Amino acid sequence: MEPAMEPVKPVIEPGFDVVTGAFSFTGRAIALRLLSEERRVRTLTNHPNRPGSVDVKVDVAPLQFADRAALVESLRGADVLYNTYWVRFRRDKLNFGEAIANTRILVGAAAEAGVRKIVHISVSNPTADSHLDYYAGKARTEDIVRNSGLRWAIVRPTLVFGNGDILINNIAWLLRRMPFFPIPGLGGYRVQPVAVEDVAEIAVWAAEQSDNVTVDAAGPDTVTYGELVEGISIAVGRRPRFVYMSPRLTLWAGNIVASRVRDVMLTKEELQGLMEELLISLEKPRGTRRMDNWLLTNAETLGRTYASELDRHWR
Ligand SMILES: NC(=O)c1ccc[n+]([C@@H]2O[C@H](COP(=O)([O-])OP(=O)(O)OC[C@H]3O[C@@H](n4cnc5c(N)ncnc54)[C@H](OP(=O)(O)O)[C@@H]3O)[C@@H](O)[C@H]2O)c1
Repeated sequence: MEPAMEPVKPVIEPGFDVVTGAFSFTGRAIALRLLSEERRVRTLTNHPNRPGSVDVKVDVAPLQFADRAALVESLRGADVLYNTYWVRFRRDKLNFGEAIANTRILVGAAAEAGVRKIVHISVSNPTADSHLDYYAGKARTEDIVRNSGLRWAIVRPTLVFGNGDILINNIAWLLRRMPFFPIPGLGGYRVQPVAVEDVAEIAVWAAEQSDNVTVDAAGPDTVTYGELVEGISIAVGRRPRFVYMSPRLTLWAGNIVASRVRDVMLTKEELQGLMEELLISLEKPRGTRRMDNWLLTNAETLGRTYASELDRHWR
């Protein structure tokens, strides 16, 4: 945990955009996209000193939910709020219910601060009655945004790849090290990865629409999970034996590795979402960047080091 930050100082004039998590993954791509369009950006984050944060030239304020007045002040004068805030899984006292409540505080603060529009990053195929809390929770946050009184856009990414991602990097990390690689089931369920830069472009495009919109952010290629792993394996030049396992055994194997790296690698819910093909879109793809190209360009560095979710967000 990094030291507490000073209260936000108004160092930029009104007319800027606010992005949550500009030193993390999707928020970073959105911030870089906005900066490339010469927008001024403030980020809300609890990790202002992450490696690479100096390369993202933004004003910084805490992402805090306990001090609503300070949150409102950090949003005052902003044009668009790009909200990436969410938690990957429940842990300790932070569960999806808490993340929904925090989203409500953030969206309410944006409305009180007079923000013109909110672009909310959701997930593909969220439904209120989903048996998966991640997806049901996301549907509830979408309702909060739609009922906020603000102009809004909802962007629903599938599986996001790019520099700084966790899942694809850690598949590569495993492929580089393990004598075998577990594939849950037969690996025939489909995914439609999308580049993080495409998500950012779609989010900025959504902010510019005069109507409120809900759009998927999905890439041009749909592949099976087995093909996805095969592609990563080719890129990193390592082909351990693929072992087809039940989901339960896969999670068990994943937990053994996770305990060695003191992380949570994959949750049961994430695996269910993947196998139920929730990470694909039924819309015409808006993303254009191909994952194969990105894999080949980044083959040298991909999976060299483990990307820890717990280090990134929970410690
Ligand atoms: N990554 C994907 O493949 C994917 C796929 C579909 C949808 N999405 C959605 O896209 C959005 C961004 O995802 P991302 O992977 O790019 O996330 P991220 O950058 O790792 O985190 C996004 C924001 O949430 C905050 N956050 C994350 N976990 C937290 C925790 N445990 N406690 C407190 N704050 C936490 C981060 O805080 P800090 O700024 O302090 O780090 C950051 O501001 C999310 O809404 C996610 O549901 C992601």
